[in-house]
Amino acid sequence: FVPKGSSGGGGAQAAKDQQGKDIRASEWVETHLPGDRSLTEGLKGDPTYLIVTKDKAIETFGVNAVCTHMQCVVPWENAENKFKCPCHGSQYDAQGKVIRGPAPLPLALAHADVSEDGIVQFSPW
Ligand code: FES
Repeated sequence: FVPKGSSGGGGAQAAKDQQGKDIRASEWVETHLPGDRSLTEGLKGDPTYLIVTKDKAIETFGVNAVCTHMQCVVPWENAENKFKCPCHGSQYDAQGKVIRGPAPLPLALAHADVSEDGIVQFSPW
């Protein structure tokens, strides 16, 4: 099964909101501010940040929220413009790159595309 209109090819999967509903890009950008990073359900059910760009579009990548140290879910700190893990203090920049350990690797990314029917799709990086 390959979702219609997905440019990501194999393995694409609709991003889901907290109610488990497929996320419609046009509605999401109306209800989330530019720069917003909110948790959605991504590939393999992983909590994944969906990002709204400055010009109110869906960013072309999502950031997997699972810390690469010991798998805590990492919150986004908007005021500091970084992800900060509550478990052992790892910090990641807005693109998920490590700025402070002990995290050994950046947060995983997923491609984010909008299908022909307007649904946000994640696919493996
Ligand atoms: Fe995130 Fe350890 S699990 S710093």
